[in-house]
Amino acid sequence: MKVRLDGQPNRCYLPSKDRPDFWGSSMKFTLSRRDAVKALGLAVCSPLLSKAAHASQAEWVLGFGSCMNTRKNQSFWQAILGRRFDHWVFLGDNLYPEADNLESLTLAYQELATIQPLKELRAKTPVSATWDDHDFGADNADGSLPFKRESMQLFKNFWKQDYASESEGVYSAQIIEHQGKKIHLILLDLRFNRTPHQEIVPSSSESDEPRADAVPQLLGDAQWSWLESEFAKPADIRIVGSSIQVLSHEHRFEKWKNYPADYERLMGLVGRNSAPTVFLSGDRHLHEVSKVQLVSGRTLYDFTSSGLNKAEGLSRFERNSLRVRRNLDDGFGELRLRWIDGSPQLTMTMIDKDGQQRFSQYDFLV
Ligand SMILES: [Fe+2]
Repeated sequence: MKVRLDGQPNRCYLPSKDRPDFWGSSMKFTLSRRDAVKALGLAVCSPLLSKAAHASQAEWVLGFGSCMNTRKNQSFWQAILGRRFDHWVFLGDNLYPEADNLESLTLAYQELATIQPLKELRAKTPVSATWDDHDFGADNADGSLPFKRESMQLFKNFWKQDYASESEGVYSAQIIEHQGKKIHLILLDLRFNRTPHQEIVPSSSESDEPRADAVPQLLGDAQWSWLESEFAKPADIRIVGSSIQVLSHEHRFEKWKNYPADYERLMGLVGRNSAPTVFLSGDRHLHEVSKVQLVSGRTLYDFTSSGLNKAEGLSRFERNSLRVRRNLDDGFGELRLRWIDGSPQLTMTMIDKDGQQRFSQYDFLV
């Protein structure tokens, strides 16, 4: 199956199952610099090498999670607080109001403020956040939400970070230095400016095309201008947090593919940029890694971690031909980053609420 991802004509990408890992569209018999770097990474990560080789590589560790109901079991906190993170990201649906109104949303923030382990995490770890529909104010809500400005103020008052816009959403970016490298952490706002969309499910020919009378918008013009200016900044890796899934598109729920113009624009931006990019996403009440490989050889991942305590196991039979890892239990995501020959080596791990590793995906992004 061919999947177009960058918005450029005549450029196709193959899902990982259609080709060997770490290699391009055809097997190569001489090592390019990119392949040599990957081979070096494989060697460094080989269990045959000594532990000293691992220990000599300092890692930067990001934890992230989404879909957290303050009225449900909070036992997952022990697993989070028992690990060391250099940064933590809440990726949306960080609370669930009991009803879709401002009063319930306000009460939900008051409940969130009483969660002691959250205070402990924030005391010892830099924490960033964006929102999704439930902490925006209503299930599957878009920019027509009547109390979106009040909701934005509740969000900003609670999470207290630097935002790119004072009045038009909660998107943000920061550059984090690690071993002389620049980690660009970008968190998008996929609620404040989005317009209604038509659900697009590939298996349904009737709903494969967007409505002719309107081009649905996910980010809005101001956020797009800001995002493109962020991508113009020098960075050694960009980590882009999207509350909804970027790559997985064969399900009937919220996804970037429901906004074809924005999706193509994002893939064009990432595909043309010199820095490798990895997406983090939430929303879906499951944990999975989706993977595509560009014809240039660059690999693109969408690491979804959804369900700190609301995984719910509902998507057992859901199709995702780009999936390389999946788990349906409660837990969170951990992204470990180290540098090999100047290139970022990623390990994407799902940790369950008891602190157990449930899957791990490793790769270089060059
Ligand atoms: Fe959501």
